Amino acid sequence: MNDQTPTFKTQGLEHAEFDPTNPSDNPTMGELISRRFSRRGFLKGSLATTAIAATVSPLALMTAEKAHAQEGSAFNFAEVTAGVDADHHVAEGYNADILFRWGDPVLADAPAFDPENQTAAAQAGQFGYNNDFVGYVPLEGSSEHGLLLVNHEYTNPHLMFPGLITVEGEEVVQGPLSEEQVNIELMAHGGTVAEIRKVDGKWEHVRDSQYNRRITGETEMEITGPAAGHDRLKTSEDDTGTRVRGTLNNCAGGTTPWGTYLMAEENFHGYFSGELPEGHPEAANYERLGAPGGWYEWANFHDRFDVSKEPNEMNRFGYVVEVDPFDPNSVPKKRTALGRFKHEGAESIVAPDGRVVFYSGDDERFDYVYKFVTAGTYNPDDRAANMDLLDEGTLYVARFAEDGSMEWLPVVYGEGPLTEENGFASQADVIIETRRAADLLGATKMDRPEDIQPNGTNGRVYVMLTNNTRRTEDQIDAANPRAENAFGHIIEIIEADGDFAATTGTWEVLLQCGDPSIAEVGATFSTETSENGWFGMPDNAAVDSDGRLWVSTDGNSPSDTGRTDGLWAVDTEGEARGTSKLFYRVPVGAEMCGPQPTPDLTTFFVAVQHPADGGEDWEGHGRPSYYEDLSTRWPDFDPAMPVRPSVVAITKADGGKIGV
Ligand code: FEO
Ligand code: CA
Ligand code: CA
Ligand code: CA
Repeated sequence: MNDQTPTFKTQGLEHAEFDPTNPSDNPTMGELISRRFSRRGFLKGSLATTAIAATVSPLALMTAEKAHAQEGSAFNFAEVTAGVDADHHVAEGYNADILFRWGDPVLADAPAFDPENQTAAAQAGQFGYNNDFVGYVPLEGSSEHGLLLVNHEYTNPHLMFPGLITVEGEEVVQGPLSEEQVNIELMAHGGTVAEIRKVDGKWEHVRDSQYNRRITGETEMEITGPAAGHDRLKTSEDDTGTRVRGTLNNCAGGTTPWGTYLMAEENFHGYFSGELPEGHPEAANYERLGAPGGWYEWANFHDRFDVSKEPNEMNRFGYVVEVDPFDPNSVPKKRTALGRFKHEGAESIVAPDGRVVFYSGDDERFDYVYKFVTAGTYNPDDRAANMDLLDEGTLYVARFAEDGSMEWLPVVYGEGPLTEENGFASQADVIIETRRAADLLGATKMDRPEDIQPNGTNGRVYVMLTNNTRRTEDQIDAANPRAENAFGHIIEIIEADGDFAATTGTWEVLLQCGDPSIAEVGATFSTETSENGWFGMPDNAAVDSDGRLWVSTDGNSPSDTGRTDGLWAVDTEGEARGTSKLFYRVPVGAEMCGPQPTPDLTTFFVAVQHPADGGEDWEGHGRPSYYEDLSTRWPDFDPAMPVRPSVVAITKADGGKIGV
């Protein structure tokens, strides 16, 4: 979800522009440190290189030098032309086939999609709305047969339901949702597990698979880890503080080395409405989260989303949820040890000593970059032994220093300011108010951290920072170097000694995004990047098995970048570093999520989220887009079908590796 996308007025839903909620007075580094060198020089990498040389082991440097010795781009494909229209486009010589659309049956007994007569019961067995994270767990190591894992982040009622919108002159108003529509929304959230296989070169859903599963806003889940069972998690439905219904706003996610599916709960605050009772002890906690958001009408029919009735229900959201996709009856677990915030994703990598490291951004302006390091080690020979690794370990938050070094600060009860004096009586309190704990630790306030992707090939970590137009000149620092950062940037972290579990590292800015032909934008794409190859608003990232970086965007539009969102191939090594090429682009109004490559790189699964959510600023539509008057009816282009968010399988026409 892009919280800056201007949407038309919907009744009571003000999520187009919400305020940053970090009130802490941690000075930004720009306020603290007088700059001894020109920022521009730093960003070109000369000082960053000095910093790296001083702190990185000779072995890591050798690896880096080898990688940097590479000549030319790591990618070979004919670039797509950037632009805006009603369809999707992939590079020539590739196929982009629709694999799952909103409403497609996932469970064997689910009914066919009937948009004019949709029900919550039907939706509970069908593919959900707004596919975001896409994961792939191979069956027996196959790149042609596996489990597809898909998050359903949120719902767009104006695109989903007939008869909701009234247009009166300039005013476009969304009418109230019925109880059934709200329940359809609940069932359209969550995730999908589906067995898929490639037959004659095309991916198919295995309809009668034992693995097919829908997880929804009502699926029963267990809360585990340090916050489980705490009084602040108890509600009138659950006096144990360990059972919760549903997972919400699952944006990006991840898979674990032991083949489980991680769903990151992002803007969970948006589902809650009402007012806390006067003087309620959770008031500060709520305020720091901008909660309740009141983006949805669910509290009209479900008391648990009304904070005046159930003030603790929201403390049961904001976690990383672990699902065992191989057991459709397994109870998903909310792993509180990984912190509670607006988790964008949870990508992981095994450290040299066998501990497993999970990276997660907190997607809000001026919020933080986190990682979690398990206490135990990964056992590749005993899956069962790994199944509770996510309950014990250390959560860290990042502080980026002006000289190109960085520290991972432990978010641990009793350490530094995380004590009773500051209102933390246990690690449970630290977890429930992770943001406030990180404020006190002096973490670096970032420009909306989204997906964070480790690269096991070069020992680096890529942090997508989508944008932050609220950052002022006084608030810039080396890690967030632009005021009014409209187009975002990407930071590359080099963990000390190539150890992903390290507590120190170095970093540099890989890319400042935006149009490089406009000097004031300050974009830093290489000069090899074409007018189609640059982008704004990086959101998701993947590193493929050849170590190449792919970036998906959220927020490009006709009026701000003259292009839709898409999937870009970004060189990170050698002379081509900073070169970007457009591989695939989405229809008008959509955001790009994924990609998820198969291990052999012959398929990329991508998710096209919220197509037709917009189009006022596109000459092909030029007015608000809603169910009866959509800016695109992708992918069916059938007048009887609404637009449908879909997962797409991209393959090379000759069956070869992608981008080679
Ligand atoms: Fe759901 Fe942070 O994008
Ligand atoms: Ca986003
Ligand atoms: Ca996202
Ligand atoms: Ca990713």
